[in-house]
Amino acid sequence: EQIKKGNYEHYMEKEIFEQPESLTTTMRGRLIRGGESKLKSVVLGGLKDHLRTMRRSRRIIFIGCGTSYNAALAARPIIEELSGVPVTMELASDLLDRQGPIYREDTAVFVSQSGETADTLQALEYANSHGALCVGITNTVGSAIARGTHCGVHINAGCEIGVASTKAYTSQIAVMTMLALALGDDSMSSRNRREEIVDGLFDLPNKVKEVLKLDKDMKELAKLLTEEQSLLIFGRGYNYATALEGALKVKEVALMHSEGILAGEMKHGPLALVDETLPIIVIATRDATFRQALRPCFLLLTYSRSYALIPDSKQQSVIQQLRARKGRLIVICTKGDAEAVCPYGVSRVIEVPRVEDCLQPVINIVPLQLLAYHLTVLRGYNVDQPRNLAKSVTTQ
Ligand code: G6P
Repeated sequence: EQIKKGNYEHYMEKEIFEQPESLTTTMRGRLIRGGESKLKSVVLGGLKDHLRTMRRSRRIIFIGCGTSYNAALAARPIIEELSGVPVTMELASDLLDRQGPIYREDTAVFVSQSGETADTLQALEYANSHGALCVGITNTVGSAIARGTHCGVHINAGCEIGVASTKAYTSQIAVMTMLALALGDDSMSSRNRREEIVDGLFDLPNKVKEVLKLDKDMKELAKLLTEEQSLLIFGRGYNYATALEGALKVKEVALMHSEGILAGEMKHGPLALVDETLPIIVIATRDATFRQALRPCFLLLTYSRSYALIPDSKQQSVIQQLRARKGRLIVICTKGDAEAVCPYGVSRVIEVPRVEDCLQPVINIVPLQLLAYHLTVLRGYNVDQPRNLAKSVTTQ
C-alpha cells in the first residue's frame, strides 16, 4: 500500500498533488491546438454522433451526488453560455423522491466518479424510461453508468482511492468544459471565447502546479483553524460550486461543520451568523462578479476631475459587509489583487493564479482541498476513510 502512495502519507494528499498529471491525461488527444486551416477546438469521440441532438434538446439536466454534482454545478454557466440550452441541476436522490418530470426532448447527463452510485444509477433508469438522451461522465470504464447511457465521456483521471474526491472533481470540470466547447462549436460568434478557453485548458496543468505551491500556507491556516467548530465558505457565479465543494471536503474528512454559501444569498439569512469568532472564507477571484470599472473621481490635490481604477465588485461588497460585522475573513483572490480586495482588516489572503473565468473553479478548489487535508491530519482523523462514509455508495 505504501508503495502505491509513493512519498505521500495519504492517498488524498497524493491525489491532490497528482492533479497536474490527471488533468493532462483527461485532456490528452481531446484538444486541438489549431493553426494552418484548423480552428482551436475539442474532440470528444464518445459524443460526436449525439452533439446535434444535445444542441437541439429542450434542456440539459445534470444529475449526480456529492462531489460529482458540485463539478456539474461548476460547469453549468459555461455550458449555458456556449450551448444556449437551459441547464438544470438535479441531486439524484431528490429527482427520484419527486419523480421530477423528464421528457424525450431532454438530455440527461449523469456525472459519477465511480459510475456505480445507486441513486445516480436509479435516476439513469428513470430518465431512460422517459425517453431522454442519457449521457454518462464517469471515471470507470465498464461501470454500470457507462454501460447504461447512450453515449458519454470517460474522465480518465486514474484510479481515485481517497474517499474524498479530489482529482476526479477537477477532471470532471475539465471534461464538462470540453463538452461546452463541443456544444458551442457550430457558433461563429463565440469563436474567440472558445479559442481562449482551449488555450486556458492547455495551460491548466501548469497553473495547477503553481497553485499547489500554497501547500505550506494552507497548512499554516489549518493550524489556526484546528480547534474551530465551524467554517463558512462564500462564493458566487463560477465559484458557488467551489464554496459547496470546499465545505464538503472540510465536512467529509476534517469532520468539522462547514457550509458553502451562495454569496448572493448572504443578506437573506447567513449574515446573522457573522461575528468576531466564526471563520469565513470568501472566494473573490476575477470574473464577471469581480470587475474593475473606470469611474470618475476627484484628485484631492489638484481638484481636477480624473479617472482612476476603482474596484466595483459584487464580491468586494460582500467582503465589506462581512467586515462591517467584524467577520473573521480569509479571502481567496487573484494574484496581485490582495490590496484591492481587502485594504485592511482581513485576517488572511490566499492569492491564486488567474485563468479563464470558467476554469477558475479548478484552481480555486486546490487550496481548499489542501486545507481540508491538513485540518484532518491536525485533528487526528482518518484521511482516506472518514467515519461513516464509503467511496462508492451502492445502496440507497
Ligand atoms: C459518495 C462519496 C463522495 C462522492 C459521492 C458520489 O458519497 O463519498 O465522495 O462524491 O459518493 O460518488 P460518484 O462515484 O457517483 O461520483
